[in-house]
Formats: sequence, structure tokens, C-alpha cells
Amino acid sequence: MHPTGLRSTARASLAAAVMLTLPLAAPVAVGQESGRGDVLPQDAPATGREIYEAACANCHGSDGTGAPKSRVGFDTPLPDFSSCNFASREPTADWVAVAHQGGPVRGFGRVMPAFGGLLTPDELERAIDYIRGFCGSDDWPRGELNLPRAMFTEKAYPEDEVVWTTTVPAEGNAAVMNELVYERRFGARNQLEVVAPFGFRDVSAAGEAANWNGGLGDMALGWKRVLFHGLESGSILSLTGEVILPTGDESDGFGNGTATFEPFLSYGQILPNGAFLHAQTGAEIPATDDRTEEGFWRAALGKTFTSGDWGRAWSPMIEVLGSRELESGATTHWDLVPQLQMTLNTRQHVMGNVAVRIPMNDTDVRQTEVLVYVLWDYFDGGFFAGW
Ligand code: HEC
Repeated sequence: MHPTGLRSTARASLAAAVMLTLPLAAPVAVGQESGRGDVLPQDAPATGREIYEAACANCHGSDGTGAPKSRVGFDTPLPDFSSCNFASREPTADWVAVAHQGGPVRGFGRVMPAFGGLLTPDELERAIDYIRGFCGSDDWPRGELNLPRAMFTEKAYPEDEVVWTTTVPAEGNAAVMNELVYERRFGARNQLEVVAPFGFRDVSAAGEAANWNGGLGDMALGWKRVLFHGLESGSILSLTGEVILPTGDESDGFGNGTATFEPFLSYGQILPNGAFLHAQTGAEIPATDDRTEEGFWRAALGKTFTSGDWGRAWSPMIEVLGSRELESGATTHWDLVPQLQMTLNTRQHVMGNVAVRIPMNDTDVRQTEVLVYVLWDYFDGGFFAGW
């Protein structure tokens, strides 16, 4: 055991170093002018709680809800670490980045100081592990399980996001097809989804002048429920039920002409070294008897790279799509979809993905397509916040 006297002196001087930053609403890098030996004991590693109490509690409060304005003397609202809805969705790596480099590294305010000169990433992780305790429930899937979104394979993680996807065929008649997806999370495990497709396509026959036609496609409504999640196993499994409504004009090629029920399972798995896997399987069950049911399965394998230690995230992925009408003699359609997802802004809550969907068989009737999406995780701030 180490003498508690050393501990409390060390804690007091770290707290003093932090208090010095309080009256300054300017960029601060705590402790860069003083050696870390002045402020934390070197004989035994400090616990997460000790680090938090010494370095963070002055602003974030001993209970994690944020110290009152009258005490901190600045107007920037403090996050509420005791709110599971907020705290559970932030991956530890992002929080370590903010605590090590200061708020601006993720587009937050400069009042959140940089502790990189004083505390190691390991010590910050311990403080953040302690912060995790403020939520007090493990029902909420952790943000680490919110893997980069593939172009087709649906995520298992419940999200608050808006995704706009545009698809353009690389061959054949010109077209610009769009899909706007709105996802809203409810509580720890549920999510509502609304899908609105719309587009324009040239319906002219070969050799004729272009004849553009536009319209709304078949809208869909879905409900997702997380069945299982575990940070230790790095996995998450969800069940979704989706109803696709015949809102599109079938004769113009914008709709299916019938309501369809689409139940599916989606699975996410964290793999070593920044790699990850998504898998999804389900069926499309048309409401009318004259249509054939279809089964589908999709998987995406990817890996995330970051620019430097704290920068932009790049996630190349390769996706495989399979689908088959559920009747004897039907052929299975296979597609390969290489793609690159990247974070677009500093806060990393706006992302883009560029993909090519390449049919592997029946290529005389199925075309290669180029797809682009922009994803906005609106829980983390406005679209134009944190660039
Ligand atoms: C000088 C006051 C102050 C101190 C000391 C402080 N913080 Fe902060 N912190 C803030 C403020 C203010 C924000 C909100 C910034 C914003 O929203 O622009 C913040 C935000 C954060 C966030 C970002 C949360 C999010 O929205 O994703 C994390 C993580 C964080 N602090 C961790 C820590 C840790 C860990 C410590 C101690 C090692 C610490 N802070 C010490 C003031 C402080």
C-alpha cells in the first residue's frame, strides 16, 4: 500500500492544475508546463475514480451530471454522463480522443481541456471506465457495436440517423434513384425506421430521344428490436419487421404493385484489429398470392483505419448479396459490392460511402450500379455542427 497522504496531495495538485483552466475560455492543454510527476503518484497506478475525482469532477461533477454553471463559470453545457441514452452510444476510443486532445478534436468546445500532457491514454481510459458506472444499467448496447454502415446489409445497432442514398446505373438507360431513410431509436433496444424511395429514369427505347419519368417508390415502415448484445463477445443481434407499401407507380417501374412484409435478422461482430462483420438474412413475403416469396442473405466484411491517432476514419468493406425466389428451379442472384465508407466531419457523425454493385450472374438483365450515401447521426448534433 502507498501512503494516502501522497495520494491526496497528488490529487489536490492535479485538481489545482485543472482549476487553473477554469477561468480561461481559451484553448488549454492541462499540465503541459508541469511534469506529470508533480500531480499523480508514481508508486502505484491511480484508479479510474481517483483520476476522475482529481481531473474531471470539477467540471463534470462527482455524479457525472455536470457541475453547476455558478461553479464552473462557463456557459458551454456539460454532458450528462449518468444518462444511459447519451453515454452508452459513445465508444471509449472517441472519449479518450476528446479527453487526450481536448474538445476540438471531435468538434466540441475548447472548454473541454486536453489532458494529453498530463495523463496517458491508459489513465484516461480508466477514468472513462469509471464514468461508465454513472449510467448504472447494461441494457444499452455500447457504441463500439455501432459498426460502420454497409451499403445494403442492415445494421443490428439501433440508431438515430438519416441516410440519403443515390443509385446511378453504370450501363443501360440513365436513371437517378434515391432512398431517404429515417431511423429513430426508442429506449435501450428499439428503433423505428421509415424509408422513402424516389427517383427519375429515362424510359425511352434504344435509339429514341431521352424521355425522363419521375416518381415516388414503395415506402416502407420498420421496427427493429435488439435481441442480444455483448461488449465482451463484441456481438449484437436484432430482429426487424418491415412493411413495404405499394405507394409507387408499378407501370412506371417505381413500385411493386403490392404490399410486402419483410422480416429479417441482422448481426454485427467486432473482429480483431479494427475489422468487423455484418450479416443479414430475411424474406420478402408479398401480400398477394400471385407473387413469389423471396429469400435474401447479405454480409459485409470491413476494417477501419484512422488518419493518425485521432483523425478521420476510413472503412473499406466488401459486401456479398444473395437472393433467390422461393420456388423450385429459381436461380440465385449474387452481387459483389466493394465500397469505402469515411467520416466526413471532425465530430465524425456525418459519413459518406461510395460503392459499386457488380452482378455476378444473369448479367444480361442485371446492371452494374454506382451508389453513394451520406449518413447523418443526428443524436450527436446538427448536420452542420462539428465540421
Ligand atoms: C474545465 C472543465 C472540464 C474538465 C476539467 C473536464 N471536462 Fe470534459 N467537458 C467539458 C465541457 C464543457 C464539455 C462539453 C464540450 C462541448 O459540448 O462543446 C466536455 C465534454 C467531455 C466529453 C465529450 C462528451 C460527448 O459529448 O461526447 C468527454 C468524453 C469528456 N468531457 C471527458 C472528460 C474527462 C475524462 C475529464 C477528466 C480527465 C474531463 N472531461 C475534464 C469540461 C471539462
